[in-house]
Amino acid sequence: MTDFGGFYKLGIDERLKRLKEAANLSDEEAAVLTNSGALELAKADKIVENVIGAIHLPLGLATNFVINGKQVLIPMAVEEPSVIAAASRGAKQALPAGFKADADESIMIGQIQIVGIKDTEQALKNIELNRKKIIEKASEGMKMHERFGCGVRGFKARHIETDRGDMIIVDFHIAVGDAQGANMINTTLEGVAPTLESITGGKVRLRIISNLAVFRKARASAIWKKDVIGEEAIEGVLDGYEFAKNDIYRCSTHNKGIMNGIDAVALATGNDWRSVEAGAHSFAAMGAYHPLTSYHKNEKGDLAGSIELPLAVATVGPAMNTSPTAKIALKILGAKSSKELAMAMACVGLSNNFAALSALSTEGIQKGHMKLHARNIAIYAGAETPDEIEKVADELAARKNFDIEYAKTCLKKVRMK
Ligand code: MEV
Repeated sequence: MTDFGGFYKLGIDERLKRLKEAANLSDEEAAVLTNSGALELAKADKIVENVIGAIHLPLGLATNFVINGKQVLIPMAVEEPSVIAAASRGAKQALPAGFKADADESIMIGQIQIVGIKDTEQALKNIELNRKKIIEKASEGMKMHERFGCGVRGFKARHIETDRGDMIIVDFHIAVGDAQGANMINTTLEGVAPTLESITGGKVRLRIISNLAVFRKARASAIWKKDVIGEEAIEGVLDGYEFAKNDIYRCSTHNKGIMNGIDAVALATGNDWRSVEAGAHSFAAMGAYHPLTSYHKNEKGDLAGSIELPLAVATVGPAMNTSPTAKIALKILGAKSSKELAMAMACVGLSNNFAALSALSTEGIQKGHMKLHARNIAIYAGAETPDEIEKVADELAARKNFDIEYAKTCLKKVRMK
């Protein structure tokens, strides 16, 4: 296991050196990172419409993660200070055992909406009678993906009553391997839609993936020992968790903190973080909106935490190939499958949540946060070199004055010395 202790105290060059060794990065790969993963504009212009530039975010490394007994380095792209530090701190306090994690097979739901049906009950019967034919037709759309273990696994047809009358919804269950799945699912649904129209006599409207990926969940758990984090932190986390369980206003922020970490890994690895967000919050809202994590004190008096959420993320697909950094981020992470990536993300979410709850319920988060925030203000005020940024930030934090004008005054003083 490579020692990443004190990583945050190193300069960027030193950090990269250590990372290169640990993740076996080539000079070229390291150069992509130091070059902020510059996405060529000509390439960007082929990815979305009306391109006028590209945007960069800081890419950091969450350390201290041991997942199922293996050290995992986790790249995170995020603009918010403290998120990477919190993930790393939560993971450190869970050492030496670290996290246990697992993930389901990558089965997604693709939905077809059928409207204008004269006899809903008969149409549902006809769908059942033609089950084999429907699956065969849908499977045609998955032919080229079959060699990756992908395929249509089945479907469920149901009816919903709406203000615009009865509709039949057919939820296809489709294994998508290491891809996110949206493209292959949507193509498959479009292919089978006419068959469903002729079987039901209705009209197909929407044919689209569902982001509520309930069959593609990831789970993680960890024990935070009493003699490592102290009784007060345990009680604090449990009180904070109970607050989220019983109050939707708190629960929203609780889950936001979890997604801080998960989204950052999604972004770093070129994944569709909007779908991850949609899946997480709609899952949290099943039944009643609830925390994605849960905590209890175990028989030894230690804190046991766990997380479960849908994570439809990919290790293959167009986004991973177009973003030069995403490919390297996946290499650093060492995820050999979308399941492994999802497991790492679940661990990060749990770690971020634990760190937030333990800090919020004891010393508060502002002290650490404002130090990092001070650096942002220093940069905003015009500080350019690392030395200028540190000196201005130290002054702002010491005076607890984060006013931009004050930061500019500090910068002038630093430059005069
Ligand atoms: C801030 O982005 C995230 C937190 O608010 C999460 C939480 O309150 O649990 C610190």
